[in-house]
Amino acid sequence: MIIALDGPAAAGKGTLARALADDLGLAYLDTGSLYRATGVAVLQAGGDPADAAAAERAAQTLDLAKIRPQDLRTEAAGDAASKVAAIPGVRAALLDYQRRFAHSPPDGKRGAVLDGRDIGTVVCPDADVKIFVTASLEERSRRRVKELRDKGETVIESRVFADMQARDARDQGRGVAPLKPADDAFVLDTSGLDAQGALAAAKAYIESKSKR
Ligand code: C5P
Repeated sequence: MIIALDGPAAAGKGTLARALADDLGLAYLDTGSLYRATGVAVLQAGGDPADAAAAERAAQTLDLAKIRPQDLRTEAAGDAASKVAAIPGVRAALLDYQRRFAHSPPDGKRGAVLDGRDIGTVVCPDADVKIFVTASLEERSRRRVKELRDKGETVIESRVFADMQARDARDQGRGVAPLKPADDAFVLDTSGLDAQGALAAAKAYIESKSKR
C-alpha cells in the first residue's frame, strides 16, 4: 500500500504522515529532507543552491549520514531546499531513491507513506491513496512561528509570512513537478483541525476508499 501526502509547507503533512504510518504499520519517508539535505550540502560547500551544476552534484553524491538532522530543520535549509528543488537534474537524481522506498519499503513493511510536493503527481502516480494536505497561508505561518519559538528562536512574524509566501510561489510556479493536487487526490484542509482531527479525517477517507 502506498500513501502519497502532498501539500505546502507547514500544512501538517509530516505530523499526519508519521501518525498514519504508525497507525497502519507502514514505513515513512519525508521526501522534503532529501531536498533539504541537498540544499544544506551545497551551502556547506560554500556554493549557491540556485547553481544547477553544484546542486546536481550534491544530489548525485548525497550522503544523509554526513548532515546533522538539526541542520535540516532550519529556515535556511528550507529556503535552500526550494531552490535546489526547482532544478530538473536534482529532481531526477532523487527520484529513484523515492520510488524504490515506496515500492520496496524497508524493514519488511507492507507499504509506505511518503510526504512531499509531487508524490501523487510524479513519484508515485499509482499510489493507492493520495491526499493533498493544505491550510491557509495565515494558519501555516502561525504554526511555523510557534514551531520556531518553541525551539527558542527569535522570530519576526511578518518575515516568516513573507518567506512562506515566497516558498509557496517558488514551489507552485516551477516548470518541473510543481506543487499541485493530483486530479485524483482528496484535498484535506487542516486550517481548523488539530493533529488528531487531521488523522481522523485522513483515516475516514482511506476507509471510505477501501470500501468502494
Ligand atoms: O516539506 P519541506 O518543507 O521539508 O520541503 C522543503 C522543500 O523541498 C519544499 O519547499 C520544496 O521546494 C522541496 N520539495 C519538493 N518535492 C518534494 C519534497 C520537498 O520539491 N517531494
